[in-house]
Amino acid sequence: MRQTESQSTTPPAAGPPSAVVVLAAGEGTRMRSATPKVLHRIGGRSLLGHALAAARGLAPGHLVVVVRHERDLVAAHVGEVDPDAVIADQDEIKGTGRAVACGLEALAPRLTGSQSGSLTGSLTGTVVVTYGDVPLLTQETLVGLLSEHAASGNAVTVLTAQVADPTGYGRVVRENGDPDGAVVGIVEHKDADDDQRAIREINSGIYAFEADVLTDALGRLTTDNAQGEMYLTDVLAIARADGRRVGALRTDDRWQVEGVNDRVQLATLGRVLNQRLLDSWMRAGVTVVDPDTTWVDVTVTLEADVTLLPGVQLHGHTEVARGALIGPDTTLADCTVAAGAQVVRSHGSGALIEAGATVGPFSYLRPGTRLGPQGKIGAFVETKNAHIGAGAKVPHLSYVGDAAIGEGTNIGAATVFVNYDGVAKHRTTVGDHVRIGSDTMLVAPVTIGDGAYTGAGSVITDDVPAGAMAVGRARQRNLPDWVRRRRPGTASAEAAAAAARAPQPVGGTTGPTSAEGTE
Ligand code: UD1
Ligand code: CA
Repeated sequence: MRQTESQSTTPPAAGPPSAVVVLAAGEGTRMRSATPKVLHRIGGRSLLGHALAAARGLAPGHLVVVVRHERDLVAAHVGEVDPDAVIADQDEIKGTGRAVACGLEALAPRLTGSQSGSLTGSLTGTVVVTYGDVPLLTQETLVGLLSEHAASGNAVTVLTAQVADPTGYGRVVRENGDPDGAVVGIVEHKDADDDQRAIREINSGIYAFEADVLTDALGRLTTDNAQGEMYLTDVLAIARADGRRVGALRTDDRWQVEGVNDRVQLATLGRVLNQRLLDSWMRAGVTVVDPDTTWVDVTVTLEADVTLLPGVQLHGHTEVARGALIGPDTTLADCTVAAGAQVVRSHGSGALIEAGATVGPFSYLRPGTRLGPQGKIGAFVETKNAHIGAGAKVPHLSYVGDAAIGEGTNIGAATVFVNYDGVAKHRTTVGDHVRIGSDTMLVAPVTIGDGAYTGAGSVITDDVPAGAMAVGRARQRNLPDWVRRRRPGTASAEAAAAAARAPQPVGGTTGPTSAEGTE
């Protein structure tokens, strides 16, 4: 299943807007960052990426992003996340009204076919304006705004919210101060008198406009206000003065209209977004044991009966199938975990873990890892570009790089796939049902045939034929009585002397001679 938020396109019953203009020209100085504010990320997506996803979900005729501060970085990012969006440069005149005017101006060539054509009359239908730094606004809320706009026959519909502390926001002024009265206009905090400042219904900055009313009013804006800016908010009073209907849609979900101005708000909105995502996954059948320590990106997909234990982070295009168990304390980026698999206290990126396989604790799966069905990557194992066959096991303390391992094969503890000669990487191929002895160095390029064994501690530099036992290590030499002669008077020498006096056990102390790895 997929998260529906911002993924599907459901145009409103009122029909898609002719354009959405996303404002992203502001400086964002309070972030104190070399990165433009709208490129900071929550839920695995830039703030602007969230705004674009919601906007694109409306299937608008045109999607315009207005840029100015760090315009090249922002424009390049838009090119990556929504290549069809139009970039509009705001000029040196400040204000949200000017920003929208510049945004629509950038559409003129597309609408009139001429480079400098005036927009008046050429853009029809409804224009939606949103902000690039308001990441939690959903497509559904925008659809609601458009429906209200169409149903009420408004020329302008503004999304508003009732807040406890309206300081700094534009206030929504209604007829006779009646909370349900007609909207007279919006007064900016800096321009407001005491009575107006007492109003707690604020302008979110999100609007639906009839295109003709908007283009006409934008041409009549002045900078005659406390900030010397062209206010988009003045369009409301202008439309009303022209006898057009101005309305509002009040939302009681304040997070949807909350913008990010500093990193405290970034973290706060990041947490709220995460909570919302987890709530929706839990309702879809996912067990999240500790939502406070579990983080998922908007691009993650989970099936029913997935269990996420505390401390799990799932990033990018990670997909987890039915019945899989992740965690505790596991981070996966762009990983696929198939049904019933388990990943415990591990870190993975770009890995595929097939059905019923197990990983961890304490392993590191790097890109190109593919663990076959019912396979095992155990503790303290690092893998990279490694295909591990069905039922094959790499249980302990190993590095597997640039390798293919066949079905049912066991890799003994502390085996290293020696893939790098200091200049180039080489591949190792291990067949089916092979037993690699503990502490084997497989020096690539090398191939181990099906059913072969290697002796523990071997350095394997030559191919091993199917079914052979390969031993690549020096023979053991015992120097009798060495400790008594060379370490006299030590505890070791005394222990050796005591052993010499004791009766010898039948069968001696010889252990296994060769191959057995570990299971
Ligand atoms: C604006 C509204 C205010 C509303 C508030 C909600 C105006 C005049 N005021 O306040 O009523 O309560 O948003 O947050 O519209 N931007 C540009 N170009 C500009 C100026 C701003 O693209 O020249 C963009 C910013 O990047 C930002 C958005 O517009 O995404 C809002 O700008 P900001 O300065 O935060 O809002 P205010 O003008 O203070
Ligand atoms: Ca703001």
